[in-house]
Amino acid sequence: MKVIVRHDKEEAEKVVADLIAGEVRTNPEIVMSLPTGSTPVGVFSELTRMHEEEGLDFSSVTCFNMDEYVGLGRDHAQSYYRFLRENLYERVGMSLENTFSPDACAANLGRAADDYSSLIKRAGGFDLTFLGIGRDGHISFNMPSDALHPLTHVERLSEAAVRDNARFFEDVSEVPTQAITIGMRNILESRRIVLLALGEAKAPVVARWLGSGLVTTWLPASFLWLHPDVTVVLDQGAASELR
Ligand code: PGA
Repeated sequence: MKVIVRHDKEEAEKVVADLIAGEVRTNPEIVMSLPTGSTPVGVFSELTRMHEEEGLDFSSVTCFNMDEYVGLGRDHAQSYYRFLRENLYERVGMSLENTFSPDACAANLGRAADDYSSLIKRAGGFDLTFLGIGRDGHISFNMPSDALHPLTHVERLSEAAVRDNARFFEDVSEVPTQAITIGMRNILESRRIVLLALGEAKAPVVARWLGSGLVTTWLPASFLWLHPDVTVVLDQGAASELR
């Protein structure tokens, strides 16, 4: 695992944007799995700048949302698909036909999750997965638990995750309590993985994870120790509790 620490948020975001841009230039038909939330926003802005000013071409890129709130349609203000469409896909000229998200409004959510895993498989899996990390150590919406799911599935969000995401909603009661998320195997089969953590709020989980080389289902990010090509990018805040 390669760990890169940069002085501030913008420099850390630039490292991740450069890594993604390099992969897109090398393989214009790259298949990526992308996160939502606060962490990727600056990275997506930098990729947009690269598209506009340097001609970084996303026209043949395929992107999969890594998760979606159960019950929110693609056009809901807080849906993760809409987030990625507005923050990246439309800004970098992607063909929306090449963008995918789980059908989180399906009558049969289990089948929708299985269909999503099949779709990922048909696309050949992910060339690059870009992750954030939750303060409880979750990656995508694989929450700390006795057991983790290999493939795409319905997950009940932890109270901490619901609380952390309440800032995007008018009231905590509006935050969906379930999501469809890609599973650990979907992530670990990715050819390359980059994880970005920003700010002091992430420092305790980063220290708990990187301070121990052990793998535990109670810290899903720790499974990244099993992958041969992971780059972790931190700003000084997120790295502040590392020894
Ligand atoms: P955040 O979420 O980027 O909004 O901090 C991270 C996560 O839950 O993976």
